[in-house]
Amino acid sequence: MSQTTLSNLLHETRRFDPPADLAASANLKADAYAAADADRLGFWAAQAERITWDTPFTEVLDWSNPPFAKWFVGGKLNAAYNCLDRHVEAGNGDRVAYYFEGEPGDTRTITYSQLKDEVCQAANALIELGVKAGDRIAIYLPMIPETVVAMLACARLGAPHTVVFGGFSAAALRDRIIDCQAEIVITADGGNRKGKPSALKPAVDEAVKECPDVRNVLVVKRTGQDVDWTDGRDLWWDDVLGKQSTEHTPEAFDAEHPLYVMYTSGTTGKPKGILHTTGGYLVGTSYTHWSVFDIKPETDVYWTAADIGWVTGHSYIVYGPLANGTTSIMYEGTPDTPHPGRWWEIVEKYKATILYCAPTAIRTFMKVGAEIPAKNDLTSLRLIGSVGEPINPEAYVWYRDTIGGGKTPVVDTWWQTETGMIMISPLPGVTSGKPGSAMNALPGVVADVVDDAGESVPNGSGGYLVLKEPWPAMLRTIWGDDDRYVDTYWSRFKGVYFAGDGAKKDEDGDLWVLGRVDDVMNVSGHRLSTTEIESALVSHPKVAEAAVVGASDVTTGQAVVAFVILRASADGGGDVADDLRRHVSSQIGAIARPRSILVVSELPKTRSGKIMRRLLRDVAEDREVGDVSTLADDSVMGAITEGMQPAR
Ligand code: WT7
Repeated sequence: MSQTTLSNLLHETRRFDPPADLAASANLKADAYAAADADRLGFWAAQAERITWDTPFTEVLDWSNPPFAKWFVGGKLNAAYNCLDRHVEAGNGDRVAYYFEGEPGDTRTITYSQLKDEVCQAANALIELGVKAGDRIAIYLPMIPETVVAMLACARLGAPHTVVFGGFSAAALRDRIIDCQAEIVITADGGNRKGKPSALKPAVDEAVKECPDVRNVLVVKRTGQDVDWTDGRDLWWDDVLGKQSTEHTPEAFDAEHPLYVMYTSGTTGKPKGILHTTGGYLVGTSYTHWSVFDIKPETDVYWTAADIGWVTGHSYIVYGPLANGTTSIMYEGTPDTPHPGRWWEIVEKYKATILYCAPTAIRTFMKVGAEIPAKNDLTSLRLIGSVGEPINPEAYVWYRDTIGGGKTPVVDTWWQTETGMIMISPLPGVTSGKPGSAMNALPGVVADVVDDAGESVPNGSGGYLVLKEPWPAMLRTIWGDDDRYVDTYWSRFKGVYFAGDGAKKDEDGDLWVLGRVDDVMNVSGHRLSTTEIESALVSHPKVAEAAVVGASDVTTGQAVVAFVILRASADGGGDVADDLRRHVSSQIGAIARPRSILVVSELPKTRSGKIMRRLLRDVAEDREVGDVSTLADDSVMGAITEGMQPAR
């Protein structure tokens, strides 16, 4: 983020107080901050009471071997039981768990008892396929109810799932399956996107060719499109589930039993398998869902408009909302299909009370114009949230005014795949929101901004965002790589978690998260690694060298801009850009496709050979190039800007 944007942000003086009625009936009141400060672990023990434990825990936190945490030591529970059975047992089986809206307009209303029955059938089916506690299962599905069923069936059996976003390529899916040695893949023929069926099964077929551990592929029929079939390996979901009993007795697992692995991009090429475990994750997601969204399960209709393939979906479409017995909306498709007002039609149709989405979506709606949401009645909304990237004050105010009718609080929530739960956010009934600021660490969470030496910075200054105390939903490690876990998060500053983000404390001590300070980009709220895209580019025969930067983009936050040096043998004409974009899509996924590809003759490097992405970002953002004194050859930047040509 540029210095001007930064100072604009910090001069933002607008304040939005919580509405009086929300403040009066808020789930979490201001006294929670002091209570949590006075006895943090006691506060978390109290939050753990939202969960039904089969065996109570004996210790809240074991931090005797940092940074390897054990939360709710000795406790045993079943995550699926907590999300489903206990609500049915409490007499709430007829409450709607999901209003599902398919992109073509098909709908399904699923109650808690129906969901429980389906999850039991799926669990029984997986048992028949030989799945045992601890086995890993990959899920590569569109946004349909079966995705939740599959996840909870895994959780019920203690078989950690790894959900791979349907937009990832076969190669990316293969790498994830191999990394966590998944034995079963659950997929679909396809899903509906942008008005047409989009196939998933071919990517699975290609991926599992190189995954000898995969013995079965379960296929949900969603679009009805043709699929290739491998007899003995491939099974239709309906065939194996249909014959199963709707009864299954859940087994209680240790609080630290692995719940899932979610892959995310780091600063090196290889994605990191972020491991979340059962007890702490459920406590953390249910507590934050209840407090940040002020959930009233009897009356709210809650909508996280994100994909389950990302952590936002895991924590706030599946585990948090279900643990809290909430009614949620699940939408399969794109926001503008078949018309640009689809989301607002859905809000009106189901009378959504809470909406949670990414700033990218909000900025896109701003571009399309306020007359689109004006066509629908959005007055059911009482609270709206934002996640995934910094929200600029303009987008925040537009969101509040145009979608929230000028009355709903906006909660700008900062967190990460690694944190598992929201960490920094206003409390809707307590905090006077400032547009653009995530405000304060939630009660129970300790965040700070530190300088290079790890010292806390005074109000009015910027630095690195850190988390100073462990929290229940924290990642436990990187799957199969404890050293990388320690190195990535716990080594930059002694004894504290380094998030990888820059942040600023304003004069009031409120937090403004500014974006990544490492080689990680954020495109439309999706995390991408510059080095991962660079390795994809150099694996193409035409490319000799590549450097990728995230350049500011008014809609997507950042956009991928690639600088490439072509091999002498490559003919510079033709469709180099097209070829390279396609190649990146096939290596990683369409989300990683560069917006621009610029052919250059040299790349700016330090004397030790490190690419100076900062200078390339200046070029990509059309600014005067900054300090070049540490370049090995300071004439390089001139050569780059003069000779640069967009690849055709
Ligand atoms: C990165 C984490 C959290 C679920 C979705 C993304 C950025 C996230 C905010 C926010 C400013 C934010 C950070 C963070 N980020 N929320 N409210 N304000 N930046 O999860 O893919 O793990 O990405 O997203 O840079 O480190 P993720």
